[in-house]
Amino acid sequence: MDAKQVLDQVRSVEVRIAVIGLGHVGLPTALSLADIGWHVIGVDNSEVMVEKIRSGESPFYEPGQQELLTKHIDNPRFTLTTDIDQAIRSASVLFICVGTPQRENGDPDLKDVEALTRTIAKNLNGYKLIIEKSTVPAITGEWIRRTIWRHATNIDTGKRSKSPCFDVASNPEFLQEGQAIQNFLHPDRIVCGVNSEIAGRIVKLIYAPLRAKIVFTSLNTAELIKHAANAFLATKISFINMVADVCEAVGADVTDVATGIGLDPRIGSSFLNAGLGFGGYCLPKDLRAFMRLAETHGARTPILKATEEVNMQRINVFMRKVSEALWVIENKPVAAFGLAFKPGTDDVRDSPGLNVVSRLLRERAIVRAYDPAALESASKVKPAVPGQLDYFDDPYEAARGAHAILILTEWPEFKTLDLARLREVVEVPVLIDGRNLFDARTVIAAGFEYVGMGKKVESTNTARRLLQPRTSSGRRAKSIALVYAKQEGETAPVHDVVQQNGTAYGD
Ligand code: UGA
Repeated sequence: MDAKQVLDQVRSVEVRIAVIGLGHVGLPTALSLADIGWHVIGVDNSEVMVEKIRSGESPFYEPGQQELLTKHIDNPRFTLTTDIDQAIRSASVLFICVGTPQRENGDPDLKDVEALTRTIAKNLNGYKLIIEKSTVPAITGEWIRRTIWRHATNIDTGKRSKSPCFDVASNPEFLQEGQAIQNFLHPDRIVCGVNSEIAGRIVKLIYAPLRAKIVFTSLNTAELIKHAANAFLATKISFINMVADVCEAVGADVTDVATGIGLDPRIGSSFLNAGLGFGGYCLPKDLRAFMRLAETHGARTPILKATEEVNMQRINVFMRKVSEALWVIENKPVAAFGLAFKPGTDDVRDSPGLNVVSRLLRERAIVRAYDPAALESASKVKPAVPGQLDYFDDPYEAARGAHAILILTEWPEFKTLDLARLREVVEVPVLIDGRNLFDARTVIAAGFEYVGMGKKVESTNTARRLLQPRTSSGRRAKSIALVYAKQEGETAPVHDVVQQNGTAYGD
């Protein structure tokens, strides 16, 4: 079949689309394409993964994914296979969704993309539109093209093919974990780099049901858009985290600052939540890869370096708050709420929450961890050690006996927890909010001390006055080093109140 015939097949909705790699990008892509009416072959080399999906069970948590799988599992136009050769031969449009993990030097590891490209080259039985969706550095599309030319084989004769019939397109994904299906089916834009008119027309038809704006560019540019988008998002987060530190230093409130600047449409209000910083499989890795790409080509990226540096400091900033709140960390039970790298997923890859857990364990805290979705994935990476690291599927059990509750992921569910009940089960009512999820006043009203990120310490002066020991003249001593947020007029159970001479007060 030539390109023109494939275009006709697309028009008649008969074309077969292979989605190769069924991970966090591939599976939502395959299911969403099936949902908008395409004939999809989902391919993965993991038998276990394919069997699980075939049995109707989503292999990882992604809102809406299980429902789509249930809906399409018996759809004859949605099939699954591990037979990659066969899938390539029977499809004309191939989405590359294989992983591009990070190598030690920060470069993305493209060996799976290369291997797949060679497999495609050996199975060219007609025109193929090869669409790279995995996040790859600029010029990967060029390499795919070159690799196909080098290895293209006529499947009938087994000889090198001199004029392979294919196009390469770059159609980067902008799927946020926890919203992948929603992002796919309701995109704010679709970016597509193409090197031929017919490839552009095919992509346009495939996405036509979504009625989204498509930005057509060159291959290189589309690849760069993806990296620039993730780098910008990361920079926005690090920027607000930097501002958070300044807020703390001068007694301002970073949440209010974010609101104040975010209302300017040139700035925008999203991705301005200060806290533990960005994690996950994409932002840290893509930021690195973008820097490496620039470096390799002699371009400088000082802003991205600073973005990474600020992010790497976030865990230290948080741990400092923990030790200021607990004084001695060793042997104290702490409740760690939130292990997924963000809400709406069970993914713990490069999770700031899990990194905090590691640091707590290093400091010999007794960690009692809870997450609404990521307990299983977290315990695979960091197996439970009874009495040192325990996982609980009930937040109130996790909080029992704790000297502090740490909020490590911004799960909205945490906000609906019964604070009064938590107050009853903890040993010491301290809540350290690494995601600024809670309203300080609500937490304080429930009887907790509240420590946020980039927040002014509320009622410090009152608390300071109340807690300062009196001198012989009846006046209060001048300096108390560590005081936490208290409500006006409350008698404050402050820990670790240290007088200038080093004497410790409080419980
Ligand atoms: C990111 C991008 O947002 C997607 O557009 C992109 O398609 C995807 O990477 C990818 O390249 O595949 P994702 O990794 O799912 O998506 O996560 P984000 O929602 O971007 O969050 C990343 C991290 O930043 C999380 O740890 C989150 O807690 C943190 N974050 C986010 C903040 O600390 N503050 C914010 O204001 C927003």
